Amino acid sequence: MKRIFLLSALITLAIAAVADARVKVKGRGANMNFDAASIPAQYQASFEMMSKKCIKCHAMERTVVAVQTGRAPITGQIFDRQAIKAYGIKMLRKPNSDMSKQEIREVVILLNYIMEENTK
Ligand code: HEC
Repeated sequence: MKRIFLLSALITLAIAAVADARVKVKGRGANMNFDAASIPAQYQASFEMMSKKCIKCHAMERTVVAVQTGRAPITGQIFDRQAIKAYGIKMLRKPNSDMSKQEIREVVILLNYIMEENTK
């Protein structure tokens, strides 16, 4: 019995440690986004731009869920570094995306950073 308690305490601690290393998320549903406070200064401009531009057709929730879970929420595809780049280009090519190549590049760099932080 004692053993089981210890084991579950350990597992809880391990999960808490993993959760803590992740870039924080704020809000729910349509208001969900990465927490600006956990984005370093050099990425703040990109973060602001992404938060404005990537919500033209869908909420940030879609991007946040993909990055935090490693799965693209619509197609269920694996969301890794390669996928970030591929999706960046896919979103850029969408009619009326209203984004430049440079902006997409910034978003890709930012999402790669967040993904890397999450795996630490
Ligand atoms: C012009 C409209 C439009 C803009 C702007 C847009 N998206 Fe999307 N996005 C879509 C549509 C439509 C889908 C549905 C699935 C698909 O077509 O890939 C989607 C799906 C997604 C998905 C989920 C893909 C999946 O397979 O589950 C992610 C992640 C995503 N977008 C991220 C972004 C990011 C990051 C940006 C900003 C760089 C962005 N989107 C800007 C239209 C847009």
